[in-house]
Amino acid sequence: MWRVYVARKIPDSGLELLRERCELDVWTDELPPPRDELLRGASRADALIALLTDRIDAELMDSAPGLRVVANYAVGYDNVDLEAATARGITVTNTPDVLTETTADLAWALMLAAARRIPEGIEYVRRGRWRTWGPELLLGVDVWGRTLGLVGLGRIGAAVGRRARGFGMRVLYCTRSERPEADDLGWERRDLDSLLSEADFVSLHTPLTPETHHLINARSLALMKSTAVLVNTSRGPVVDTDALCEALREGRIAAAGLDVTDPEPLPPDHPLLALPSCVVLPHVGSASHATRELMSRMAAENVLAVLEGRPAPNAVNVAGTRDRT
Ligand code: GLV
Ligand code: GLV
Repeated sequence: MWRVYVARKIPDSGLELLRERCELDVWTDELPPPRDELLRGASRADALIALLTDRIDAELMDSAPGLRVVANYAVGYDNVDLEAATARGITVTNTPDVLTETTADLAWALMLAAARRIPEGIEYVRRGRWRTWGPELLLGVDVWGRTLGLVGLGRIGAAVGRRARGFGMRVLYCTRSERPEADDLGWERRDLDSLLSEADFVSLHTPLTPETHHLINARSLALMKSTAVLVNTSRGPVVDTDALCEALREGRIAAAGLDVTDPEPLPPDHPLLALPSCVVLPHVGSASHATRELMSRMAAENVLAVLEGRPAPNAVNVAGTRDRT
């Protein structure tokens, strides 16, 4: 039987699929496995189901001589050293597509929540402060008819853009290469600076790479409108947290909606959390029952494909095959 280390308890659909063919070692704690536990688990595994909270690096791979596949339970895989994996013949896979629409829904939830001050309204009611209808109570900014700027136009960015149609919004996007299919929808391509200065809502959809680290910093925040809302459902370090705090505190932008932060988790006494104009969620973009089951199944299918010598449906590297010792 193949041995699969699963770095957290994930929904059943994938685990059931694996149980037919593999011996599973599942870390069931709420918190990620500590480093030495992860190394121990990987050291005897043929396959690893990893989460974005697990650092999968060369050291781990070198201590795992039988490891042939790392199935990341996420679409993003910045937690995995892809080059190290490829050099060692280890296939890395992710969970694209199945979480696209679910994550796009959450980006919209954040846009609307930040623009219309939903968390402040909830607090207001809960605290017993709601005494009458107020003509100037909790005024926010409009979403409908405004301009949405998408930074990055992968699957999730495009799904966020498609939803803008129902809100009568104009859509701008910023990508490295031309995207005729987006132009066909009437979306307009901009360079980053122009997008930042024209958009009322800026939504981030880039992977985290050295090029996108702190892509949104003091300089880029200064280009944004004072009425603009920043939404981040990608990776925390794409935004310079200190610069964002400062921009929100000084009212240089209106609000932010963040599903991802840097650091993650954000400590409860973090200055961002003291700002009413900042809506923060605990990285739940793909967190629907249905989607997490699909991700589980997809991760399992990728594991089985590699172990059975078939091409992995969602490989993000071309790893060849690892010499088994
Ligand atoms: C979540 O952040 C993911 O990359 O799937
Ligand atoms: C990015 O990960 C995307 O699918 O948009």
